[in-house]
Amino acid sequence: MNESDPKLRSAHSIAHSNIALAKYWGKRNSELNIPAVSSISITLEALATKSSVTFDPHSRGDSLEIDGERFDTEKISVVLDLVRTQSKITDAARIQSSNNFPTSAGLASSASGIAALTIAAASAVGLALSRKELSMIARRGSASAARSIFGGFVELHSGSQPDGSDSFAEPILDREDWPLEVVVAITQSGKKATSSTTGMLSTAGTSPFFDTWVSSAPAKLAEMREAILALDFQHVGELTEQSCLAMHSLMFTTVPSLIYWNEGTISVIREVQRLRASGTECYFTIDAGPQVKIICEPANSASIVSTISELPAVVEVRRSRLGPDAQLVNPK
Ligand code: PMV
Repeated sequence: MNESDPKLRSAHSIAHSNIALAKYWGKRNSELNIPAVSSISITLEALATKSSVTFDPHSRGDSLEIDGERFDTEKISVVLDLVRTQSKITDAARIQSSNNFPTSAGLASSASGIAALTIAAASAVGLALSRKELSMIARRGSASAARSIFGGFVELHSGSQPDGSDSFAEPILDREDWPLEVVVAITQSGKKATSSTTGMLSTAGTSPFFDTWVSSAPAKLAEMREAILALDFQHVGELTEQSCLAMHSLMFTTVPSLIYWNEGTISVIREVQRLRASGTECYFTIDAGPQVKIICEPANSASIVSTISELPAVVEVRRSRLGPDAQLVNPK
């Protein structure tokens, strides 16, 4: 295959993973992938996906390779179809991605991957879209990906329109305005057993607490937004842990139960509590996987890394500053 063929349209991008401080779990519309509740995240500089997208009239179907391994194209084809419809082309696309962290292990590789794919695909076909529009396209592939279009502190609106036209992400605070750091404790690098999409569907149908989660979300989100804008670290940290534990309570009470944690997860939670009791202010959060992310101020991150690295159940520790917007890059 000749990559300099003028019929090929390509672009290259980088996007960063994110973690929600105020979580979403559940959809208000599964088909349009509209989240049931709004969420607020921070983008993570140290966890990145680089992606190359090539639309090729000779390809027979979309294909996705991540770090040399073939992956299912279901989520990415939703995004590619929206780009194809808007640009009135029908070519299939080849996607080659690389992650600098474990894929599908609860570190939001789909957020960075789909955000990277969205901006590269739109650019490859010459679509001039705003970041708001890009976030709406990314949301269709993975709701958390809508947030990775932006750097810093980002809010994803669940909206109320049936067509999802008011469900998009937007930045609420630049990373320079509050340069927090995150210590990522990886307690297992294998793939998770139940995907978020399957898990959410099951929770909405079976957890007795799901309706309360949805009805209490707007007030909790407003409190989080205010605490962020006030740069109130203790309040943001406490709300972050509450949101995480409320989401995991929904997972635990799903039938059959969704327990994404392992022994390492608990040991890191306990260590964060010990660190806090001894005067090092830091707070944990956990997505749909066993890894723990610890939010802290930059002055404390090095000592937290060394304490957490000593826990026997922790296989790897990463330290991250807050990340930038997803962006196009030159081919290597
Ligand atoms: O949008 P998805 O399928 O990547 O689901 C993400 C769900 C959580 O990471 C568990 C929570 C969140 O708000 O990011």
